[in-house]
Amino acid sequence: MDELKVFTGNAHPELAREVVDYLGIPLGKNEVFQFSNENIFVRILENVRERDTFVIQPLCSPVNNNLVELLIMIDALKRASAKRITAVMPYYGYGRTDKKDQPRVPITARLIADLLTVAGANRLLTVDLHAAQIQGFFNIPVDELTALNLLANYFKEIKYNDLVVVATDIGISKRARDLAEKLNAPLAIMEKRRVGNVDQTETMNVIGEVKGMTALTVDDEIDTGGSLVSVVSTLIENGAKGVYACCTHPIFSDSAIQRIGSCPVKEVVVTNTVPMKDGKKLDKITVLSMAPLLGEAIRRIHTGMSIGAMFE
Ligand code: R5P
Repeated sequence: MDELKVFTGNAHPELAREVVDYLGIPLGKNEVFQFSNENIFVRILENVRERDTFVIQPLCSPVNNNLVELLIMIDALKRASAKRITAVMPYYGYGRTDKKDQPRVPITARLIADLLTVAGANRLLTVDLHAAQIQGFFNIPVDELTALNLLANYFKEIKYNDLVVVATDIGISKRARDLAEKLNAPLAIMEKRRVGNVDQTETMNVIGEVKGMTALTVDDEIDTGGSLVSVVSTLIENGAKGVYACCTHPIFSDSAIQRIGSCPVKEVVVTNTVPMKDGKKLDKITVLSMAPLLGEAIRRIHTGMSIGAMFE
């Protein structure tokens, strides 16, 4: 592990510390702060010449600040002669803006890919992209980990015998099917229609049988919690006897926490790809750590071992 260095910006230092604990190495020394004019300054405080370097920085709130910090850290490492720079983005912000689905809109997920590459990133390590095709926006290697096994193992312990896995929309149905297979449960799919560009959703229809069953909804992220609330109430209207939810990225913006608190979902299981501030913790929210998986992936990238083998 001699030549491996892991750095963090201000987005999620707790996760970075867990990852280096897994690797048994100290966190790389650097400073990242803003001047009074809001310009971000970065300095790497140790020698990185010819080193294999990783920067852990999810694009969580404040998203634009965290993005610029990451870009500047990559630039600083490049100019300090690091041999290889891997951007570790456990949450790929702007991932939902991944196609031109109406006139005169940007493809920001692609723009982020270009920015990372121009800054000097040689690889990307990420977790559960909104759409796997985002990998193709990069001309550098991309390793996409998944939290599905972690989530499946948690629910396996509970052993429901009447479980149905529910995809919260058609876009997530393939991942939901994988989860259903891991849990040996049938699959149902919500047909969800989004209204306009604002964070407002309307759930239309349940495809599949949920009556008298315990439903487990799965999504890549919970943002405002609007989708979750309408999915839970539609499932209950359709006869589900209880609803659990899981997702990889707990963005929990706006009043998501109040919505989750007052909605009849029994438990929401998420991971720590983004930080969970104290005010966002509820008894019915369980957080599983992605640090061992990220740490193992970093170890394997560094030593040239297979990442795919971790999920076989
Ligand atoms: C959208 O397609 C995503 O997969 C999630 O369903 C969405 O981000 C959830 O957003 P919200 O919690 O604001 O309804």
